[in-house]
Order: sequence, then structure tokens, then C-alpha cells
Amino acid sequence: MKPVRLLFVCLGNICRSPLAEGVLRALAEKKGLAPALEVDSAGTGAWHIGDPPDRRSIEAARRHGIDISELRGRQVRPEDFRNFDLIFGMDENNVRTLKRLAPEGAAEKVRLFLDYASGRSEDVPDPYYEGPEAFEALYQMLDAGCSSLLVRFGERAS
Ligand code: 4NP
Repeated sequence: MKPVRLLFVCLGNICRSPLAEGVLRALAEKKGLAPALEVDSAGTGAWHIGDPPDRRSIEAARRHGIDISELRGRQVRPEDFRNFDLIFGMDENNVRTLKRLAPEGAAEKVRLFLDYASGRSEDVPDPYYEGPEAFEALYQMLDAGCSSLLVRFGERAS
């Protein structure tokens, strides 16, 4: 079966979406689902192109045994709408921007992450201006969301 190609998108591609990418990849490996998935992340904004993830996201991942330090920021590109099967906005603002950028017919690939993953129409809030505790909460939210996502894909694959 062809792998499902997933793109996580937030504003800067340094806090939420690279952590989501790392968490999903680690969970998929643990569950033997890695060959079924291709995962990437991007930002709607251009401020952090080429930058590593925010140190607080790197540390949150590291506390849970995941290394995201090699990831680098990039901006959403037109071909992403062709190359990915699903494009997950972390919050409603990201979803709105993505739908505006989507070419004809591609807007249905754009989904609010937690809504798709677990049926909860809820944002993954931007932690950039928050304290370090927000990054542990972010990790927990992404871990739960990515686990639900894999249950969905596991059900589909079987
Ligand atoms: P992210 O967080 O969208 O989760 O990566 C942010 C990172 C940087 C900025 C905003 C949000 N910024 O304004 O530079």
C-alpha cells in the first residue's frame, strides 16, 4: 500500500508542527506503522526558514526520548498541495491561511489537526509567547492527537 503523506502546518514551523512531526514519527515507529506514513512540517510564515525548532520544543521532545534538533523550518509551498494527502493546520488560523493558499480542488486536503485526529474541534494553541510549562502541555496534546491519528490509520490499514 502507498504511504499516506501528511504535512503538519503551524505559523512559524519552529514550535508546534516540528514537534508534531517528531512525535508522530516516533509513535509510528513504535507501532510498526512507519512504512505506511510520510511526515513533514511547514509554516505559513517565512520568519524561520532554515531555523532549527525552538529550543523549548527540542527540549520537550528530548524529555520524551525524541530528537527533533535536525529539523529545519520551511514555508508552505504550492506543490505541498499536490504532494501531500492531508495537510493539518494546528489551529483555525492556520487552516484559514492554508485554504486561501490551496489551489482549486485541494482545499479538502486541509484539516484542523485535532478535529481530524480525534473528532475534537480544538486548536493546538500557539505556545511561542508562553512559559516552558506550555511546551510540556503542547507535547501531551500532540502525543494524544498523534496516537488517535494512528488508531484511525491503523483501522484503515487493517
Ligand atoms: P509555531 O509558533 O507556529 O508553533 O512555530 C510560532 C513561532 C514563531 C512565531 C509565531 C509562532 N513568530 O511570530 O515568529
